[in-house]
Amino acid sequence: MAATADFVVIANRLPVDRVVQPDGSTTWRTSPGGLVTALEPVMRRNGGAWIGWHGAPDEKLRTFEHDGITLVPVHLTGQEYEEYYEGFSNATLWPLYHDVVAPPEFHREWWESYVEVNRRFAKKAARIARRNAVVWVQDYQLQLVPQMLRELRPDLRIGFFLHIPFPPNELFQQLPWRRSILEGLLGADLVGFQLPGAAQNFVRLVRQRVGHKTHRDTVYLEDGRTVTARAYPISIDAAGFEEMARRPEVVARAAEIRESLGNPRCVLLGIDRLDYTKGLRQRLRAFGELVTEGAVDVDDAVFVQVATPSRERVEQYRLLRDDIDRLVGRINGDVGRIGAQPITYLHASYPREEMAALYRAADVMVVTPLRDGMNLVAKEYVACRYDDDGALVLSEFAGAAAELRQAYRVNPYDINGLKEALLEAIRAPEKERTRRMKAMRKQVVENDIELWATRFLDDLRTVRHTHDKTPRP
Ligand code: G6P
Repeated sequence: MAATADFVVIANRLPVDRVVQPDGSTTWRTSPGGLVTALEPVMRRNGGAWIGWHGAPDEKLRTFEHDGITLVPVHLTGQEYEEYYEGFSNATLWPLYHDVVAPPEFHREWWESYVEVNRRFAKKAARIARRNAVVWVQDYQLQLVPQMLRELRPDLRIGFFLHIPFPPNELFQQLPWRRSILEGLLGADLVGFQLPGAAQNFVRLVRQRVGHKTHRDTVYLEDGRTVTARAYPISIDAAGFEEMARRPEVVARAAEIRESLGNPRCVLLGIDRLDYTKGLRQRLRAFGELVTEGAVDVDDAVFVQVATPSRERVEQYRLLRDDIDRLVGRINGDVGRIGAQPITYLHASYPREEMAALYRAADVMVVTPLRDGMNLVAKEYVACRYDDDGALVLSEFAGAAAELRQAYRVNPYDINGLKEALLEAIRAPEKERTRRMKAMRKQVVENDIELWATRFLDDLRTVRHTHDKTPRP
């Protein structure tokens, strides 16, 4: 692999999904995520490369070109899939960084695998990046890469962005490898977070745990480097979503969905990865109680919950799936009637057009995570509501709550509060819904993913990265 790229993205996953043709051959399709949409133009301009895992354990693939971008697959053995991906990334870091809403597990073998795989990503990047190239490392699976890469290639500009929350010291300190993670991140010139509070957590931890001097958003390292930590709230391709939601076939599909649900007066919708951070239990319980108590009529309102399968072999995800299956069964069994099921539960993933049709069909969007870095579903819903109608019920523990201030705000742990907010949203007069939606749409349309990427990359190029070794006191 020759050094060919002036801009390199490193993420756990490649931005493509494999499509198997009827004749057995495989092709690749760009995955629906907003990140790749935002970065595609930058990548094409700069001979960009994306380094990531292609999604199948125990398979080695060669570097290939896709839509003008060089894709560099990183292989994971079956054991690394279990220890680095399912284990350390998703059963240690994921719950720890999300307020320990599930207990994190700490295993030394998982950590060793995390170090090993992070090193593999760093080495690939060191080989493909041209001199003085810009490298952007993504998310919690790869927190050691910045430092590893800097050791191999001190000429590079290295950025890191964490898509999930960054916990306060009280939680972070549980991690036996806390110092190594902080040092890993300090390999970057710019470390980005979803919210200012997360950036502050990081700077405070670096001062307290690693002993570096800090001032505001800047960390002064002894070797003369500086590291900046700032918030860059991520967003979506808002225009892309709106365009999709306006397509005649999507509009027709939205009508068809309402029809299949029995044309109720109110459709409530939840769309999430099936994850214990998403507050699915709380939201279904709240809705179930409203129906049981008669505050909501089952002929009048239905709840559609789409739960996309995710990390299915990890224990906490299995437990959650059984839990939700039982809860939905119980509510539907208790209060449903022939032809009127209060909850339509779909454990499946759908293409983006179907999501857009669901957003169009929903009067009330219910987003109630117990903790969430941002939550793009909330922003997607808003982007699809080009008629300025529809109500968003949003947890105050989602990063998006900082920007979508006109949502019906809830503490998902407070079931009574959640019930009140659902009722308020269901009963809101049109004028009130429009007032709130207009303000939220302005926010989402003006702050789309392209602006997010531009802000981060501009800062990465211009941010101060050395100091004269006499830091301010
Ligand atoms: C979150 C993480 C991403 C991750 C995605 C899907 O959004 O921040 O890094 O890719 O979930 O999870 P998966 O484990 O399937 O990659």
